[in-house]
Amino acid sequence: MRKQIAAANWKMNLSHHEADSLLDQLLATEYHLSSNQAVIFAVPAIYIPLAVQKLNGKPNIFIAAQNCHQKANGAYTGEIAASMFASVGVHHIILGHSERREYFAESDSELAEKTEAVLAIGSTPIFCCGEPLSIREAGTQNSFVEAQLKNALFQISADQIVKVVIAYEPIWAIGTGKTATSEQAQEIHAYIRSVFAAHYGQNIADQISILYGGSVKASNSKEIFSQPDVDGGLVGGASLIVTEFAAIINALKS
Ligand code: PGA
Repeated sequence: MRKQIAAANWKMNLSHHEADSLLDQLLATEYHLSSNQAVIFAVPAIYIPLAVQKLNGKPNIFIAAQNCHQKANGAYTGEIAASMFASVGVHHIILGHSERREYFAESDSELAEKTEAVLAIGSTPIFCCGEPLSIREAGTQNSFVEAQLKNALFQISADQIVKVVIAYEPIWAIGTGKTATSEQAQEIHAYIRSVFAAHYGQNIADQISILYGGSVKASNSKEIFSQPDVDGGLVGGASLIVTEFAAIINALKS
């Protein structure tokens, strides 16, 4: 059974004090996680020790980094290697978020290297894909997303690809309040799964969790997550509000 995941992407938000209090409030709220559900907090790197201290040992709750460097070590001032995150207990890493592709010019080939680096140390990439508005308006979102997946992931072996979590995030829905309809989400998630099935086989494709991201909130999460090929969400803005994120966790399929 595929993992159902609610992943919080805090991006570059919150003071240390606010992060501390948000985690405390979330832990104090009522949520129930079954064995195939997980909650992931992608916090700013500097708050990882805080998150580890608060969340370590909590069943089905994990901490993620929002990016890493593709090299294992070396003269890359300001960067953090995947193995460094692993050494402090962080084994999930978001890769290729559209903000990193756009503002930091991350390319598919760089993302291929990052994905391999994360898998090589046994950690889990949360690989983001998704089209801008112009592509959606032209109706070519399927081939656009397919190219992102092929260029960055298809060199990976079948036994490794099942460890990758995919996050489909239409750029026009990120932080805009505009959400894809549940039908639009299902349509492209099914397409993404079919792309993996064509390359790796249906059995492998069926094991890959595909999260939806883009203005997920308490009020739309249940409907979006109920779609057969949507396995949870990557949540930005609403993950910073306790009641919102708690409701989103509770909207996961069991
Ligand atoms: P949003 O962000 O929920 O604020 O739209 C999602 C994301 O960028 O991961």
